[in-house]
Amino acid sequence: MKIGILGATGTAGLEFVRALTGHPWFEITELYASAKSVGKTVEEACSVDIRRELHTLPDTVLGMTVKGLDNISSGIDLLCSALPSDVAKDVEGECAVHTPVVSTTSAYRYDEDVPIMITEVNADHYKALELQKKRGWKGWIAPGPNCTTVGLVMSLYPLLHTVGINKVIMSSYQSVSGGGSDLIQKWKSQKKAELPTPLEGEVPLETVNVMVEGNVIGYIEKEEEKVQKETRKILGSYHDSLFIPNILRVDCSCVRVPTLYGHFETVFVETTENCSAETVKLLWEQYNVLWNEKYGNLPSSPKKTIHVMERTPQPYFDAFAGGGMSIVTGRVEKTVFSNGIKYQVLSNNTKKGAAKGMIQVAEYLYSIGFLREK
Ligand SMILES: NC(=O)c1ccc[n+]([C@@H]2O[C@H](COP(=O)([O-])OP(=O)(O)OC[C@H]3O[C@@H](n4cnc5c(N)ncnc54)[C@H](OP(=O)(O)O)[C@@H]3O)[C@@H](O)[C@H]2O)c1
Repeated sequence: MKIGILGATGTAGLEFVRALTGHPWFEITELYASAKSVGKTVEEACSVDIRRELHTLPDTVLGMTVKGLDNISSGIDLLCSALPSDVAKDVEGECAVHTPVVSTTSAYRYDEDVPIMITEVNADHYKALELQKKRGWKGWIAPGPNCTTVGLVMSLYPLLHTVGINKVIMSSYQSVSGGGSDLIQKWKSQKKAELPTPLEGEVPLETVNVMVEGNVIGYIEKEEEKVQKETRKILGSYHDSLFIPNILRVDCSCVRVPTLYGHFETVFVETTENCSAETVKLLWEQYNVLWNEKYGNLPSSPKKTIHVMERTPQPYFDAFAGGGMSIVTGRVEKTVFSNGIKYQVLSNNTKKGAAKGMIQVAEYLYSIGFLREK
């Protein structure tokens, strides 16, 4: 299948490139980005900090020329979008008129005829893509979740379907790469000496809200609303052309921390049935077997979807478990509250949480014959 990538020069876009390089079913044929990248090769167009990480890609890909969004071919079988959401709203909609789109953006996530897809959790929600024909589209748009939602939802799913869940409280510690190439660049180039000393009187928020070593940013715009809304939609059902969100209550607090890859979370769950920490670990292991049977044939699926650890998951060491497609859980314990379980979970925000996760969705849709060559 011929694949085009929208926003190919950014953090998530380059992960699409990586996920598709040497892919057995899919082949990259076109790359698109903004006017500043048009006519450049991938290597020339990428920001200096990202360029250092390009060595894993073959010369054939690095030498491909980037095109503009005014030049998108209708002969492509599938477009993978990693554009900023405001740009994606018009562009993905125009593309879906003729071509299917898998997307890392939030542009269409909350529409009534659009699923938010995680292969292991709600692959059957793809049926909603049929509804999009009413928009006059020959293609469709299948977005994935916000990168913070992924680890939470995947770890909750086995519990929801066995012991039941009433309530979830999550705190995230999200890496810099989740903010895209600009944030990575700012983080790497910022000099501590340039900063004011915050303790000397009142300093405006925009001055101190900077991602430097030694700082955390206690608020990520719209992130918490996204996690709450998406968790309920993904874990809900799709029936008779309607999404029915799950009734579980979710609250969260999302924070940016100075790590490069991987979103770490602490999760408190009130289960419906009382259960032990050992039961939770066992359920995750049982779902590993189930998921492997169902989705192990997809080229991007990891051998083990949930790595259950006794120690705490660590972004530096564990963010690339299973090629960035596994989630890593640890420190599962009972809480002092009744029916309470707490644990930690880590997921890779650019891979499972973005581009590679959406390639896995495309693989699933291709494997069942829903996504076809034109
Ligand atoms: N980073 C993550 O971990 C992550 C995870 C999940 C979802 N997402 C979502 O994925 C999308 C991309 O995020 P990112 O972090 O990869 O951002 P990014 O690093 O800033 O990359 C943005 C990409 O979009 C292109 N672009 C920007 N403005 C454009 C315009 N007006 N016309 C055409 N192309 C334009 C850029 O091209 P130039 O290089 O030419 O400027 C670049 O290729 C966002 O919607 C984000 O919310 C990101």
